[in-house]
Amino acid sequence: MGGIAALIVAAGRGERAGTAMPKQYRPLAGRSILRRAVEAFERHPDISMVQVVIGASDHEDYQAATKGLDLLPTLAGGHSRQHSVLHGLQALTAKRPDFVLIHDAARPLVSRALIDRVIGALPDADAAVPLLPVSDTLKKLIDGKWTTVPRDGLNRAQTPQGFRFDAIVKAHREFAGHDMTDDMALAELAGLKIVGVQGEENNMKITTPDDFARAEALLGGGETRTGFGFDAHRFAAGDHIWLCGVKLPHDKSLEGHSDADAGLHALTDAILGAIGAGDIGQHFSPDDERWRGASSDKFLAHAAKLVSEAGGAIVHCDVTLICERPKIAPHREAMRARIAEILGLEVSRVSVKATTTEGMGFAGRGEGLAAQAIATIRF
Ligand code: CTP
Ligand code: MG
Repeated sequence: MGGIAALIVAAGRGERAGTAMPKQYRPLAGRSILRRAVEAFERHPDISMVQVVIGASDHEDYQAATKGLDLLPTLAGGHSRQHSVLHGLQALTAKRPDFVLIHDAARPLVSRALIDRVIGALPDADAAVPLLPVSDTLKKLIDGKWTTVPRDGLNRAQTPQGFRFDAIVKAHREFAGHDMTDDMALAELAGLKIVGVQGEENNMKITTPDDFARAEALLGGGETRTGFGFDAHRFAAGDHIWLCGVKLPHDKSLEGHSDADAGLHALTDAILGAIGAGDIGQHFSPDDERWRGASSDKFLAHAAKLVSEAGGAIVHCDVTLICERPKIAPHREAMRARIAEILGLEVSRVSVKATTTEGMGFAGRGEGLAAQAIATIRF
């Protein structure tokens, strides 16, 4: 088939990064690290196919992170980076590309210029690798004694590393089990012709917790948008209400076409507002029988999906419930936890507050309750 393939390895667990989910699924200025890395190759005009290798349990995160991108069907990696690369190369064998660029998903800031340099150097070599000279003085502890390692001629290797496809597949098969941390190491073992190209300081690998903030700073922080939502429902006879995704026992119910969860409705509208996607009624018409008695978590999850499709990430939301009764405080933590669960956020990024109106207005008279919400989205 020919052409240039990109192989992106994303099957690591990110243990040194200290996050709950593997680091490549964390947002960086609003877009996941994986998506940023993958997009750089998917958009490149000289790259005809992109293969991503992921962790066996990461399918859902992967789907969310790569919505709308044109990629080869994903496959599971192995227990080391080298295994993951080999799995990817084996899958690409059927496509018979001329060249392959192998890239760490953990390097989301790879530039178009760097990809161009690697591709540009390939026709004359078996391998082209971005390198940067070491500038710090290097120290090694040997048997409890510090010694200085001469840094002359030492370089740091980055990705993407480009290879003649047949040559790197052969090297990977021949030296399987050596457990090298990059693919140039296998090219070295196989005696391939390797050329260095200029690497980039900004093409950092996200490895430790500090690296997230450093990478965000390099991105200039991205764009932040906020959206506001409001909703009110009338009380009727009943014995429970739904608020912020939690069922509360009460001596009344709330009237509405769906479950009348004013908290989730206000928040759904806030999220839709932040991405200019209309309001909840446009997406879930009150005339539509499908939504009669519907659980409002569906509406909120749909709004969150639209955000990720638009390339954004919800980073914070704040809901204020306005009612005299029921008392919200005992349920506040359950509400935060439920919203965090629906949106896939840490609980610390979700706020639920409550207030009365001192007996004034419809909420004060107990005719119904209202909710306001703000959502913050980063792109
Ligand atoms: N990788 C992989 N399969 C593995 C291990 C690593 O595909 N079994 C990928 C990672 O997802 C990452 C790249 O190889 O994109 C570089 O690895 P590294 O930075 O070490 O990432 P992790 O292995 O995820 O992190 P850690 O070593 O801290 O657990
Ligand atoms: Mg690792």
